[in-house]
Amino acid sequence: MQVDINERIPNNVDLASDRRLLRALESWQPRYLEWWREMGPEGTQSLDVYLRTAISVDAKGWAHFDYVKMPEYRWGIFLAKPEPDRRIAFGAHKGEKAWQEVPGEHRTALRRLIVTQGDTEPASVEQQRHLGRTCPSLYDLRNLFQVNVEEGRHLWAMVYLLHAYFGRDGREEAEAMLERHAGDPDKPRILGAFNEETPDWLSFFMFTFFTDRDGKYQLAALAESGFDPLARSCRFMLTEEAHHMFVGEQGVARVVERACQIMRERRTDDVRAWGGIDLPTIQKYLNFHFSVSLDLFGQELSTNAANYYTAGLKGRFEETRIDDDHRLLDAAYPVAEVDGDGIRMREAPALTAINERLRDDYIRDCAKGVERWNRVIAKHEIPFRLALPHRAFNRRVGTFASVRATPEGRLVSEAEWTRRHGEWLPTEEDRAYVRSLMTGAVTEPGKMANWLAPPATGINGKPVDFEYVRFA
Ligand SMILES: [Fe+2]
Ligand SMILES: [Fe+2]
Repeated sequence: MQVDINERIPNNVDLASDRRLLRALESWQPRYLEWWREMGPEGTQSLDVYLRTAISVDAKGWAHFDYVKMPEYRWGIFLAKPEPDRRIAFGAHKGEKAWQEVPGEHRTALRRLIVTQGDTEPASVEQQRHLGRTCPSLYDLRNLFQVNVEEGRHLWAMVYLLHAYFGRDGREEAEAMLERHAGDPDKPRILGAFNEETPDWLSFFMFTFFTDRDGKYQLAALAESGFDPLARSCRFMLTEEAHHMFVGEQGVARVVERACQIMRERRTDDVRAWGGIDLPTIQKYLNFHFSVSLDLFGQELSTNAANYYTAGLKGRFEETRIDDDHRLLDAAYPVAEVDGDGIRMREAPALTAINERLRDDYIRDCAKGVERWNRVIAKHEIPFRLALPHRAFNRRVGTFASVRATPEGRLVSEAEWTRRHGEWLPTEEDRAYVRSLMTGAVTEPGKMANWLAPPATGINGKPVDFEYVRFA
């Protein structure tokens, strides 16, 4: 009996010993499945998909591959192994024992952090729900579904924390996770980027490269939390997140590769004439997704972020590897700000600049990926470089929301912006062109749509032409 119940919600948190919690989660489970059927990947209930499922948290168990029908995916609750005698690494409680229960005075703030993180997970599934119809290969279709089921599991991870540690309001928040929907005018998702559409596969690859990478940095900051169950949840989520960013980086690299092949073989810059996606269009998509993802880090200077840090709830990226006092009461941090008609750096209190520091870590990481894409272009000896736009470009949150800036970071008038933004961001025409390449699904094993190159290798040692998805 007990084993059977455990199997309904696979977990490594000894759910069976807490009947109340188990019952609460078991009553949330059908609501989740209903959401998956209605808002998850469209028209996929009966497909057999070659998926990775976490069946334990150790090196062998967390990447178990098999064919699964997605509604039967074993969404479970997995926390990374506890660190014996773990201590809080930063803030006013630095050096104290990590909390196994929610400290009363931080309850509201912690709940808010968990809800904000949790809300992004189902949002991206909703944003991506129509993409299966236009997949460029079975390999890519499988990767899309892998990302989708794992975002679903990340929702489980946050919902578990809400149910287990936040009583009645936690249960209500868990319900609300399934009631808000990406782009819903009445009940939108909490953060802006998670209400945008993911209308095509180039957007999907950019989203998984840039927006899932925001997820990586948020999770890494929460993985430092003094609230140990949250830290352990996020540490395990990070292992899954790495694959999402791989899908994005490698996806964009293959689109770039294909553009370069066309340019070389056809001796032309007119990549569109041969059904590829030209490098300038790729740059515009990059500009859009990077700038929208930067907004997710919040205000440059934030007392909320400072309070979360001081309270020991949310740390910095790789907090324990940073060589400072981890309290930041007197420390300064350079922050860019608008000054007249230019942008200049100024020293701000490091504590209030926590968001900005995380954004800087993120930008450095993004830049490395862009350099790897540039190596693909350089290999073809094509004189073109992709680049991240300036952080002031196209922002809706923070100090740069009030100005217009070029991708190089030059402030421009509203009139110039209106005249020129089509050079920098995808126009309706660009988007229509990209969509025009993706009118149907490519489902023959090993076959690729014309607008992207095949991947170098398959998944889990399987060949590229493996039947990653089986249609009934
Ligand atoms: Fe996630
Ligand atoms: Fe993700």
